[in-house]
Amino acid sequence: MGRFDGRVALVTGAGEGIGLEIVRQLVREGAQVLLNDLDGDRASGAAAEIRASGGDCRSFAGDAGDVAVVRIMVAVAVEAWGRLDLAVANAGLTLYGNFFDYEPAALERVLNLNLRGSFFLAQAAACQMRDQGEGGRILLMSSVTGLQAVHHLEAYGMSKAALRMLARGLVHDLSPHGITINSIAPGAILTPRNLQDDPDFENSWGNEIPVQRVGSVEEIAAAALFLLSPEASYITGQTLVVDGGWSVTSPLPGQISYRNQGDPT
Ligand SMILES: NC(=O)c1ccc[n+]([C@@H]2O[C@H](COP(=O)([O-])OP(=O)(O)OC[C@H]3O[C@@H](n4cnc5c(N)ncnc54)[C@H](O)[C@@H]3O)[C@@H](O)[C@H]2O)c1
Repeated sequence: MGRFDGRVALVTGAGEGIGLEIVRQLVREGAQVLLNDLDGDRASGAAAEIRASGGDCRSFAGDAGDVAVVRIMVAVAVEAWGRLDLAVANAGLTLYGNFFDYEPAALERVLNLNLRGSFFLAQAAACQMRDQGEGGRILLMSSVTGLQAVHHLEAYGMSKAALRMLARGLVHDLSPHGITINSIAPGAILTPRNLQDDPDFENSWGNEIPVQRVGSVEEIAAAALFLLSPEASYITGQTLVVDGGWSVTSPLPGQISYRNQGDPT
C-alpha cells in the first residue's frame, strides 16, 4: 500500500525540476497525477516517462498564471479521475534584475505566475475539495528568498514572502473543510534551470550554505510529500524551510576572528 493510493493530485510547472520530482514520488506512492507545464512537449514527455515506469500520470499543457487555464486544469483532473485531493502550486518564475532598472513588465510576469496563479489554483482546488467533503491538501512553493534578502531577487523574493502569508491566511477558510494549506521554502536546489543559469551552481551556492552543498530535488519532494500525506493532518498554515541551514545564518566579513576569545581555563 502506498501513502497516496486512490489520491488524485495536480502539480503545476512539473515538466522538469522540483515539480517533476514531486510527481515522480507521488506516483511511486500510488497517486494519480495531472502534470502541468507551460511547455507542452516537456509536459507530455515527462508524463510519458512516468507512465512507462507503470505510473498513472497525464499531462496538461498550459500557463499556470492564467486563471482560466488553472480552473480548466482542476476540471480536467476531476474529469480524468473523478476527484482532486492534492494540489501543488509549484510553477514559479525567477527573474533576476537590478532594482534601479527593473521593468514593470518583469514585475508583472513574476507576480502573475507566482502569486495570481498560486492564489487561483488554491481557490479552484479548494472549491473542488470542499464540494467533495473529504478534505484535501494544498501546497504552495515559496523560497528562502522570501525570508532573507538575495540581491537582484527583490521582486521574486517579495512574491515568495507573500506565498508564506497566503498559506497562513487561508487557514480560516480551509480548515472547516478539512483542507490543509502549507508552503515549502527551498534554498538553493540543483535543477536543470539553475545549472543552465550558472554551470558552476553547485560550487558557487554550495559554499555559502552551512551543510556545504546545494539541495536536491529529491530532498524538496520528500518534504512536499510529507506535507501532502495523511501524517501531516494537524499541520496547516506553515512554511517548511528546506535549505541546509542557509537562512538561519548570517554571512561574516571574511574569516571569523577568535582574537577576543578568552582562555576558558
Ligand atoms: N530551484 C531552486 O533552487 C528553487 C529555490 C527556491 C524556490 N524554488 C521554487 O520552486 C518552484 C520550482 O522550481 P524549479 O527550479 O524546479 O522550476 P523551473 O524554473 O525549473 O521550472 C519548472 C517548470 O515550470 C515550467 N513553467 C514555467 N512557467 C510556467 C507557467 N507559467 N505555467 C506552467 N509551467 C511553467 C517550466 O517550463 C519548467 O518545465 C518554483 O516556484 C521556484 O520559484 C526553486
